[in-house]
Amino acid sequence: MKGIVLAGGLGTRLNPLTKITNKHLLPVYDRPMIYFPIQMLAVAGVRDIVVAVGGQHQGEFLPLLESGQEFGLDKLAYVVQSKPGGIAYALGLCEAFASGEPIVVALGDNIIEGNIRQAIREFEARSDQAKILLSRVRNPRAYGVPVFENGVITRIEEKPENPPSDFAVIGIYFYPNDVFEIVKTLQPSGRGELEITDVNNAYLAQGRLSHSVLQGWWGDAGEDKDSLLNVSVQVARTGANHVWEDEQ
Ligand code: TTP
Repeated sequence: MKGIVLAGGLGTRLNPLTKITNKHLLPVYDRPMIYFPIQMLAVAGVRDIVVAVGGQHQGEFLPLLESGQEFGLDKLAYVVQSKPGGIAYALGLCEAFASGEPIVVALGDNIIEGNIRQAIREFEARSDQAKILLSRVRNPRAYGVPVFENGVITRIEEKPENPPSDFAVIGIYFYPNDVFEIVKTLQPSGRGELEITDVNNAYLAQGRLSHSVLQGWWGDAGEDKDSLLNVSVQVARTGANHVWEDEQ
């Protein structure tokens, strides 16, 4: 299985912090934000990774991450997102990298306390199914929220006024390789982006979407200044993906 870290996007909500550097290079407590998803994948044994970069400061990823050796990776590749288009658009750019294999996709600003080893095992056991991870949140209105019927997800609503549950779909997704065919069928949403929720809803429509509830905390560090601060404090207090360091 190959790993995809999406770090394109413009990070406008973190202006002016993102005026002179890329959002994913901002510090989250003791390291640049992008380290967390890369370490999360490396800890889980995903050692062949592509990072999708974009925006004005895309050149800064290379001197920071270099070949990925520091993270124990076998290979670190880069894909350039040269125009805005949304998360699913950035994912579509990684088709050649995936070269027919199943993939795990991590948003470059999502940070979790725990690890994804169990989720990978579950995904590999039923690799014709896509898999999403859910986290219980206080403010579901800000996220993609699953609708459940008898414990099964029937729909995912994007930023709902009246949240149908208190779970958020977090930015870590497991997909069979046909995800790239699904991406090609997507139409831009009202905000002009190809939406990852539409990808997940396409799998749902085919009866091919499973889910797990994440253990430990989850944070979206790139939402706004408060989220960046809150996630930094969480990391400082409890650590995140530190298993990786323990294993060195
Ligand atoms: P967002 O935080 O939704 O978007 P953004 O990074 O462009 O920030 P802002 O809305 O403040 O301008 O994106 C979530 C993650 O997805 C982020 O870590 C980067 C990635 N992403 C891409 O790779 N390409 C894209 O086109 C978008 C929109 C996001």
